[in-house]
Amino acid sequence: MAQKSAKNRHEELKSIIAKHDHAYHVLDKPIISDFEYDQLFTELLKLEATEEGLDLTDSPSQRVGAKPLEVFSKVAHRVPMLSLANSYSPEDIFDFDERIKKFLKTDKEIEYFCELKFDGLSMELVYENGNLVRALTRGDGTVGEDVTQNIKTIKSIPLKLGKGAPEVLEVRGEVLMFKEDFARLNENQQENGQQTFANPRNAAAGSMRQLDPRITASRPLKFFAYALGHTEGITFKTQENIQETFAEYGIPTALKSAPDLVQVAKGPQEVVDFYHRIEKVRPKLPFDIDGVVIKVNSLRLQDDLGLVARSPRWATAAKFKPEQATTVVEDINVQVGRTGALTPVAIMTPVKVGGVTVTNATLHNQDEIDRKDVRIGDTVVIQRAGDVIPEVVSVVLEKRPKNSKPFTIPSKCPACGSEVEKLEGEVVTRCVNPLCIAQVKESLKHFVARRAMNIDKVGDRLIETLVDAQLLTKFSDFYRLTKEDILSLDRQGDKSAENIISSIDKSKTPPLARFIFALGIRFVGEQTGKLLADHFVTIEKFLEASEEELLQVPEIGPKVAKSIIEWTSNKRLVKEVHEMIKLGVNITNPVRSTEGSLSGMSFLITGTLPVKRDDAKDIIEKNGGKILGSVSSKLNFLVVGDDPGSKVDKAQSLGVKIISWDELQKML
Ligand code: IVH
Repeated sequence: MAQKSAKNRHEELKSIIAKHDHAYHVLDKPIISDFEYDQLFTELLKLEATEEGLDLTDSPSQRVGAKPLEVFSKVAHRVPMLSLANSYSPEDIFDFDERIKKFLKTDKEIEYFCELKFDGLSMELVYENGNLVRALTRGDGTVGEDVTQNIKTIKSIPLKLGKGAPEVLEVRGEVLMFKEDFARLNENQQENGQQTFANPRNAAAGSMRQLDPRITASRPLKFFAYALGHTEGITFKTQENIQETFAEYGIPTALKSAPDLVQVAKGPQEVVDFYHRIEKVRPKLPFDIDGVVIKVNSLRLQDDLGLVARSPRWATAAKFKPEQATTVVEDINVQVGRTGALTPVAIMTPVKVGGVTVTNATLHNQDEIDRKDVRIGDTVVIQRAGDVIPEVVSVVLEKRPKNSKPFTIPSKCPACGSEVEKLEGEVVTRCVNPLCIAQVKESLKHFVARRAMNIDKVGDRLIETLVDAQLLTKFSDFYRLTKEDILSLDRQGDKSAENIISSIDKSKTPPLARFIFALGIRFVGEQTGKLLADHFVTIEKFLEASEEELLQVPEIGPKVAKSIIEWTSNKRLVKEVHEMIKLGVNITNPVRSTEGSLSGMSFLITGTLPVKRDDAKDIIEKNGGKILGSVSSKLNFLVVGDDPGSKVDKAQSLGVKIISWDELQKML
């Protein structure tokens, strides 16, 4: 074929195939048969294999998946990708509307564009002169990963925009997997002995983060656009207008494929009605959503409203209550925790809730069991909120088996057989035997945890075995263990015994804060451990502290003080500390910086930051800042990440300064 006509035919084929891809994947209205489509595609591939100098960047052949990458490169977003403030209560929409009107100093009804909150992976597509040149994940909002090769495999995303495309159009939206596709993918994965995914969102994220685009190409992913990034050569008047324009360019939007699922609402009541309407249709939707998103429709007003920390003031998300399912309680187990608390757990017939198989649900305590009257054999409604432990919401009484009996937590500890007690005014039933085997095991597990003594080679299983072999009954026993002791256990080799002993040895210089935390005193978490270490400086001073002295420590109230006193007045426990010291544990207290750039300031973190929460706290403290446990007028800064909770509102109402992670970095 002559050069020129090969090129022409190539261009022609690219655009014909793009048209059919759009008809099939976006409009759901194929024009030609699969056979005819395959013929066109084969012709295209043949041409590309034999001719040189063809432009492959926007060729549908790219959708099959290019060569695997070594790593994803990081690219900065020209406009940061923000997150949304959210709430679970539709009533908050009225507050949101109030805030907006107040900020704009207007009484006029505000027009809102209401959308679905897709539960997928957010993405930015960069079109330059109509060509899809780049696709970035959200990353930390400032810098994302370049997943262009992978995005090109999603057939509903146009590689080229039609005529009149602006110089730059950055399109933001969500990559997701339809529920049905997800189920089929998991079936296939299982059959092939490959990893299955917990839910469609994880499957979509896992598929996008493949270095080999051929894997991504094999995954049934979809995309819906909902927002703008940077633009050149085009302007928009409203949020609705943005979606309309995307749709004209062939970019998938909810507005185009499901116009019933978006709405321009006048005032907050119409928004609330939208919320309830969507909540009703939610289970019938082919994909997961976790709420609705409400945006001020006018872009001029959006501009006036601006940002609070990393969220726009002009938008909010109203989330739905968690998803529910029905199953049968086969048994109720009672577990004993570190502080002796007895927790009843329902063991259920496995059931899928929001795409995840669930078998256990916490019943919290006797009061909760009584309130819901959950019995063995009952059919129950359970729910999962995000990633937390599932809960029993209610019992389906019509399905209750005859002769069922109310469940009562036993009056003897299921682990050690001692009496249990339930104090006046407390909901928790406790085993009061401090030597209870279950409590001992749980305390020892807490002691070795990463944020406590960090004995990383000693896991839960080993602790159970050591306790059962009577080699371990108290904290100090860790420092008495020998290699021979470990070797006397089943299935322990020389190397692993050495590793275990050396990992215990390494834990012998704990900072005071972690040591106090490791002791497992009730109500003394990591943060309280730090405050106590700061205040008392040495372990001796801490152990001798009176209740009055404890109450001097910031954030320590009567309940915590009382619990500490109970612990420090127990001779057996205090002896344990001295034993450990004798055995070579050298408790250090690296004087914490009060010099740094954050010295004298207090912080609290809410939402997801670009770094791990614990690391963020360390950074603040290393620079002299203090971490507080709650929002109060004493707090200087609330550091806000993605999906922040209600702390933001509280901080705002108390006039606490709200800053983003980036702003904090600048203060350092
Ligand atoms: S707009 C300025 N619209 O929610 C706000 N986000 O917390 C930019 N999301 O990371 C986002 N559906 O992944 C917007 N219709 C929608 C959305 C949506 C889902 C996600 C998005 C973002 C998160 C915000």
